[in-house]
Amino acid sequence: MKISLWMGALVLTGMTLSAPLSSSAQDSAAESEIVKSEQLPANGIWLENLNLVNMSQEYGSPNARKSVDSNPLTLGGVVYPHGVGTHAKSEVALLLNGSAKRFLAMVGVDDERAKAADASISFEVWVDGKKVASTGVLHGGATPKLLSVDLTGAKKLTLIVGDAEDGISDDHADWAGAVILLNPGAKAPTTVGVPIEPARLVIPAVSPTPQIHGPRIVGSTPGKPFLFLISATGAGPITYSARNLPAGLQIDGATGVISGSLKSAGEYSVTVTVKNSKGTASRKLTIVGGEHKLALTPPMGWNSWNVWAGNVDDAKVRAAADAMISSGLAAHGFQYVNIDDTWEGSRNPAGEILTNEKFPNMKSTSDYVHSKGLKIGIYSSPGPKTCAGFEASYQHEIQDANTYAAWGIDYLKHDWCSYGGIAKDNSLPELQKPYFMMRDALYQANRDILFSLCQYGMGDVWKWGAEVGGNCWRTTGDINDSWSSLHGIYSSQDGHEKYAGPGHWNDPDMLVVGAVGWGNPHPSHLTPNEQVLHISMWCMLSSPLLIGCDMSKMDAFTVALLSNDEALDINQDPLGKPAGRVANNEGLEVWSRKLWDGTTAVALVNSTIQTAAISVNWETIGVKGSQPVRDLWLHKDAGTFNSSYKVEVPAHGCVLIKIGKSAS
Ligand code: GLA
Repeated sequence: MKISLWMGALVLTGMTLSAPLSSSAQDSAAESEIVKSEQLPANGIWLENLNLVNMSQEYGSPNARKSVDSNPLTLGGVVYPHGVGTHAKSEVALLLNGSAKRFLAMVGVDDERAKAADASISFEVWVDGKKVASTGVLHGGATPKLLSVDLTGAKKLTLIVGDAEDGISDDHADWAGAVILLNPGAKAPTTVGVPIEPARLVIPAVSPTPQIHGPRIVGSTPGKPFLFLISATGAGPITYSARNLPAGLQIDGATGVISGSLKSAGEYSVTVTVKNSKGTASRKLTIVGGEHKLALTPPMGWNSWNVWAGNVDDAKVRAAADAMISSGLAAHGFQYVNIDDTWEGSRNPAGEILTNEKFPNMKSTSDYVHSKGLKIGIYSSPGPKTCAGFEASYQHEIQDANTYAAWGIDYLKHDWCSYGGIAKDNSLPELQKPYFMMRDALYQANRDILFSLCQYGMGDVWKWGAEVGGNCWRTTGDINDSWSSLHGIYSSQDGHEKYAGPGHWNDPDMLVVGAVGWGNPHPSHLTPNEQVLHISMWCMLSSPLLIGCDMSKMDAFTVALLSNDEALDINQDPLGKPAGRVANNEGLEVWSRKLWDGTTAVALVNSTIQTAAISVNWETIGVKGSQPVRDLWLHKDAGTFNSSYKVEVPAHGCVLIKIGKSAS
């Protein structure tokens, strides 16, 4: 194998060369001419002419002959007539079948980001699973590098753009003049994507014996309304009872709804019991009475945006509440039915916010949702307008909080949007100000309203979201149902775990499994294994679990994903210590967290496009000696292991395990 990396002088990467080096400065000069040329070299094929659907990237889409922002491909002032404009992080694999000779490309940050301080990327070329060339970190404006890789006999070529480990902002990457030189008469290479395989999960048989799920701890401010549905599965009819309920609360034995209003502050240990013809189950529910003790575990529910966007209306919200019960998801812990943007009308002469025609009577919508034991959420912005351009809360904070309370709202998503035009700058006080203001408005209302910050992570919100009263805060831009989005978001969460805990959570955005589509629902474009990874990681990260699909149209797979009690239990773990990444070996990742019962949850994540074995060593996760391992998607014990556990993980998939014996 011969590798040369040209940057004014010939540079060799430190690897074993399996063929004599024949490149010379002369060759490199000739190769530089090839990649700059309009003319296709003999037996060549431009990269842009292959199927780029399989090229992943975390912003935009691959552009033939253009940069990611659709400008002419330009590096160091030179315009390249051919090539592909992409964006970190990006990857594509080409099957060559031994029929290629050489890969050539000039690479760098496109000149459209030459001056961007954040632009920093690295290019890697892999042949048959070995890294054969890499550029190191290239910043905006740096001299581009020529990559020239011998492909003699090679079966697979993989082209990777990394983000230099500093986030993907401004990482506009060009494979300029990228060309594969083939043997005469050879067929064009094909690109490969992640295989669409059946998900690695088992859909368990529904058990008729009663079981209790959902949060083990819930809080409420004394004197304000309390509502909590005991989540329990099992053959109906089920009856519910609770021992040691604190003063002010009562339970409905037929529905499992605990309601009322706490008389006084304190921590109450309640024993909840559910019974049916097959048996009885009991467990402890801690009820915490205190000021603003909300979201002691991450909120679980549904939000209208990812499925309906601007098409949400009263009927769809009521249908979501119906489906939450009829699908059985409420019995697994899902409680909130949240209306996102586009419910807002104008203000009345007194300045009070009104609904628009899609929501004729918000109080009655809210009563309907509450009648099922569920809670209801709403959306606004601290600016004058919401993201979708509707009336928002600027200078009406107290009035709006009181209106929400009067309607019976339990959850507010407060989305920065047009406040960008009000804030003086991006300083911390300016970023915090509108959220302090809305926090105070919510606190003075006569109802507990969970406060969800949405400002996409600005100013490292995870460091101060709790201080401004946030029960959760979005840490990223909007999610969509693509691998790039999913991968970009979950991998950016590493390190944020230390800022979250009971009452205040990182929010990497809502779920994209099932039928999603922002007004035009389609089955999620994530592969089945990507969906397993998505749910596993959102559980590991203690993320709010807000379903983003049409719950009236869920298939058995989607229901199985959303009702895996063993995974949901991690999300709802009362210790509230989200996972961080403890190992990452070229995309084979290990995430781990401690659970309240003394066990350790581990996600083995394969972000590469091939099935691979991943192992976790006990010392990496702070565990010792012989330990039982349980596979939470196969719902079975994997055995007992002494120092490590190794398992095959599907491409873009995840194996979720629990290690240790529960002390509870
Ligand atoms: C922003 C938010 C989304 C959604 C829309 C509504 O984009 O990040 O989650 O709420 O606004 O307009």
